[in-house]
Amino acid sequence: MTTIEVTEDAIRQTRELRDEFQRFLREYEFGMREVETKISILRDEFLHDHSYNPIEHVKSRLKTPDSIVEKIARKGIEEPDFDRIREEITDIAGVRVTCSFVADVYRLFDLLTKQDDITVRTVKDYIAAPKPNGYKSLHAIIEVPVFLSTGPLSVPVEVQFRTIAMDFWASLEHKIYYKFSNRVPSHLVESLSDAADAASELDARMERLHREAHGVPRKQLPAPAPRVVQV
Ligand code: GTP
Ligand code: MG
Repeated sequence: MTTIEVTEDAIRQTRELRDEFQRFLREYEFGMREVETKISILRDEFLHDHSYNPIEHVKSRLKTPDSIVEKIARKGIEEPDFDRIREEITDIAGVRVTCSFVADVYRLFDLLTKQDDITVRTVKDYIAAPKPNGYKSLHAIIEVPVFLSTGPLSVPVEVQFRTIAMDFWASLEHKIYYKFSNRVPSHLVESLSDAADAASELDARMERLHREAHGVPRKQLPAPAPRVVQV
């Protein structure tokens, strides 16, 4: 049996690293909570002023330490320290906003990103330009200020906006992708692509129906303009 000599110094260093990592993750949790609050205020305001809720659900997650370590390796970040990780990994905090309709996706995106304290770092409009597999969503990396006892801190948060149909498709695709360990048989890839088209068609039909039911004539409905992509 191998014995490992654990010195007091090593224990102290490990504890310090653990505490620093927890503090690091807490910053992202605070940023995530700020964004959640902003989204829930927009939802409540909409509900009260327009008797309409454009949001179906909101889901937030913090990347796990394992997943952060895996991404550090995947991105080939050498000698990572907390500043490098902060710089390179921008999806440690993630908020997913699932809306009823495509128009709501863009409306929510605009309402959130135009707020004075929000800085937009990048936008990827996979609705205007879907991924080859059919994936659609509107992604933004935003920075939100968090006020700590030590002063203000700008925290990056990845926000994904999508419709229920896009969300349904993405969660099925994700499960299939994992089941086949990234080697999805070509007939399933094709079926997924067809399903993505069907989901988009359903989105368009539901939105038309909704608008007609609310008395908005079709010809007054401009297609949402893609959001400018900033990288
Ligand atoms: P990651 O390294 O995975 O974070 O991707 P990225 O940095 O290239 O960013 P991108 O905006 O393309 O994707 C970010 C996130 O969007 C992913 O972590 C997923 O949550 C989601 N996503 C992107 N592409 C797909 C896809 O093809 N299928 C599904 N189900 N989700 C996707
Ligand atoms: Mg990611």
